Amino acid sequence: MQEIDAISVEDLTKIYAGKVVAVDHASFRVKQGEIFGLLGLNGAGKSTTIKMLATIVSPTSGNARVLGYDISKEGLEIRKRIGVVQQLESYDRNLTARTSLALYASLWGVDKKEFSNRINALIDKFELGEVLDRKIRWLSYGQRRRLQVLREFLHDCEILILDEPTVGMDVLARRAFLDFCKERVKGEKSTIFYTTHIVSEAEYLCDRVAIIHHGKIIALDSPKELKKKYTDAKTVCVVLKDDSYLTKLVKVLDGMQNVTRKEIMEDTPEIHIVSQDPFKLIYDLSSLFQSDSYEVESMSLTEPSLEDVIVGLVGDQTNNGVK
Ligand SMILES: Nc1ncnc2c1ncn2[C@@H]1O[C@H](COP(=O)(O)OP(=O)(O)O)[C@@H](O)[C@H]1O
Ligand SMILES: [Mg+2]
Repeated sequence: MQEIDAISVEDLTKIYAGKVVAVDHASFRVKQGEIFGLLGLNGAGKSTTIKMLATIVSPTSGNARVLGYDISKEGLEIRKRIGVVQQLESYDRNLTARTSLALYASLWGVDKKEFSNRINALIDKFELGEVLDRKIRWLSYGQRRRLQVLREFLHDCEILILDEPTVGMDVLARRAFLDFCKERVKGEKSTIFYTTHIVSEAEYLCDRVAIIHHGKIIALDSPKELKKKYTDAKTVCVVLKDDSYLTKLVKVLDGMQNVTRKEIMEDTPEIHIVSQDPFKLIYDLSSLFQSDSYEVESMSLTEPSLEDVIVGLVGDQTNNGVK
């Protein structure tokens, strides 16, 4: 028998107030045991998609199933089986972190002993040990965010739906959290549906990524395949001796056909040049540097990043006037 998809979405559309198209005929499937990322700029439609899957808002048209249950007709069955971390904060700020977590655990039917086992296993990972008995109102934003995320790991859910969970976490907390998600999926065969606008995070964490732009899914694959499929370009990195050479070089590059995009790095005389024909570019630049006496520290060739793919894709869509 074929395994039921964790999530299957078919032509899902949400139009707010009769005119704001937040999600536009989105279709995708998430397999069980997968970490699936929905990646998009602010306002792309990520939270709206999550709210429909978590049965918090209803779709305007189209449909979706979560673990085989229909989001329009079987919301209760779905809500029993999922954990959701929304973008908005949701807790009683006058309770201590521990009391608040215990309250949720009891609502989910986790008994006291099990609660204490689970919390002991989680507080170190989320670095909340020190603040567990403090009132939530005194916690920093990053600590409150970690608390909200930890809460959803307390109960046995088959799918975790996380809406930009790492916003407000510092670099170390973020990396520890992403590693924890990976471990969790491997160990318990649960599924994670994850949204983010941070490309490197999606690349590090997700098995597959759907890119959403103006409510439409414009690409879907593993980060590796996305990079293969959507960029045959490579990046040439040039580091110059000082800024004066940089200004001169930018002018020359402006007149070159073989340059898809260029990005000047902050605080260093370094420029990254994306090109479909990087070897010709390197040849042209070498001739230029010799004939026009530039002082060059280094020139190197790198593979495209997932960020290059997104900038390319989203830039194309905007240029084509797709809304
Ligand atoms: N309740 C609402 N009423 C009207 N427009 C909304 C509402 N919620 C979101 N939107 C609009 O829908 C679009 C998608 O929003 P959202 O799903 O929050 O995007 P994201 O989470 O990717 O930033 C945005 O243009 C946003 O302004
Ligand atoms: Mg959002």
